[in-house]
This record gives sequence, structure tokens and C-alpha cells, in this order.
Amino acid sequence: MIYLKTPEEIELSRAACDLVSRTLGEVAKWIEPGVTTMRLDTIAREFILDNGGKPACLGYGGFPGTLCIEVNETVVHGFPSNYALREGDIIGTDCVVELNGMHGDSCYTFAVGQIDEKTERLLKVTKESLYVGIEAARGGKRVGDIANAVQTYCERAGYSVVREMCGHGIGHKMHEDPEVPNYGRRGTGPVLKPNMEICIEPMINMGSKNIVIERDGWQCRTRDRKPSAHFEHQILITPEDPEILTTFKYVEEVLRSKGREF
Ligand code: MF3
Ligand code: CO
Repeated sequence: MIYLKTPEEIELSRAACDLVSRTLGEVAKWIEPGVTTMRLDTIAREFILDNGGKPACLGYGGFPGTLCIEVNETVVHGFPSNYALREGDIIGTDCVVELNGMHGDSCYTFAVGQIDEKTERLLKVTKESLYVGIEAARGGKRVGDIANAVQTYCERAGYSVVREMCGHGIGHKMHEDPEVPNYGRRGTGPVLKPNMEICIEPMINMGSKNIVIERDGWQCRTRDRKPSAHFEHQILITPEDPEILTTFKYVEEVLRSKGREF
């Protein structure tokens, strides 16, 4: 069942999305060699609570963090831990907040210090593929149009698309219909209608598409242990251009102030 949002719900979603975006901006300030992923998680949790939100991942199905921590070969759903980031790592931080009954969901993958050129390109292409997917998310088109746009873009660049994990509808619940895969055929799947809210979140591997889920049932890594990147925006389908409800502008402000490219 796909729920179309009312104008009131959309207004609340904008606020939830702004909070999750600002949370990623806070996290961005602390991404340096030596910081533990647990510390990043605490910063995110406290920031969300201080701003009247709820860390929606924490306790969700037993998940132990505010952030999903995705270091190097971790694709999604990594746990915060005492691992200290190292120069050359990449780290995705995926966060969901609940604010006044609506959810905001976004993910950004950061470079830790200097990373090699190959990995830099993986981040760049994955982020670009998110915007290519968003571009395809227009009223009257179908979920498969988004999926195909992301897949084609990433595969042409020589990367592979994770199959088991998808984007999703979002609203009063973190996960609503429809599922939004990052691979598929044009013209297939549910029709996109104005006032639908969905999350588009390419999870793209440098090597093969295969993943392994750890025995804890959560933590997901590439089978070949090559790196994987992940970017996510929450968007609103409209009669015209989609509206991107989350934003990377807070993250980018921080990266700019550190003199880092993005
Ligand atoms: N952003 C993730 C998603 O899109 C968050 C889910 S993690 C969980 O599904 F721990 F909350 F399940
Ligand atoms: Co999501």
C-alpha cells in the first residue's frame, strides 16, 4: 500500500529531512583519522535528541545504533564500534530521524583523509548516480525508470549494483511501499504519483555485486571485500521536478571549511 502524503504531512517531512541533513553535517565535522565510529554515533544521537527528534534506527528491529556505519567493504547496517577511522578509509553514515511523527532518511559516504583515486571515483560515480535516479523520478513514470537509470549509470562506469538492498517509501513509518531497487527495467514497477515520498539510495560496489550478511543478521559487506559506497536522499514526487527533501548542503559546508573536495 503506497500512501500519498497530505500537505501537512509533507511540511512535517521537510522538517524531519532538514534535521537528518543537519545531523549528517554534525557528523561530518568529526570525520578524521582516529575518531571511533561509536563517537560519531553518540554525536548524531545527542544532536537529534537536542533538536526534539528521535533516532529512528536505534532499537529498530534490535539495531544498536543511531547511525548505520559503513566502513570500506561494509555495504549497509554496520554497527558503531570502538574501531578508529584510518587515513584512506571511506565511511558511509546512514541516518534516520523521526520528528513529529514523520521520518527523514539520508546517507553520505565520506573520505577519511586522503583516499586513493580509484576509491575517489567510486564515491563520485555513486553520488552522481543518486542524482541520475532522482532525475528519473517524475510523476507518471515508474519505479523501474529510477532503478534502470541508476543501474545503467553505475554499470557503464564499471561498477556493480547491490541487489539485496533497496530504497523505499517513507512517511509515518521508516519503510513504506514501494521498494525502490537500484537495478531493473524501464517502464516496470509501481507508477510514481505526486505526493509520494521515497528514498533513493544506490549501494554500489567497486568489485562484484555479491554481499555477505554477518551472523548477527545485520552487518552487510561485499563478498570480495572491495569497497562499497552509499548515498541517499529522500524525495517528494510532484507533477514537475521531484523535490529533494534532504540536502547535502550542511555536509558540503563542513567539507568546504576543511578545504576538502567533494
Ligand atoms: N537508511 C536505512 C534504510 O534506508 C536505515 C535502516 S537501518 C535500520 O533502510 F537499522 F534502521 F534498520
Ligand atoms: Co533509507
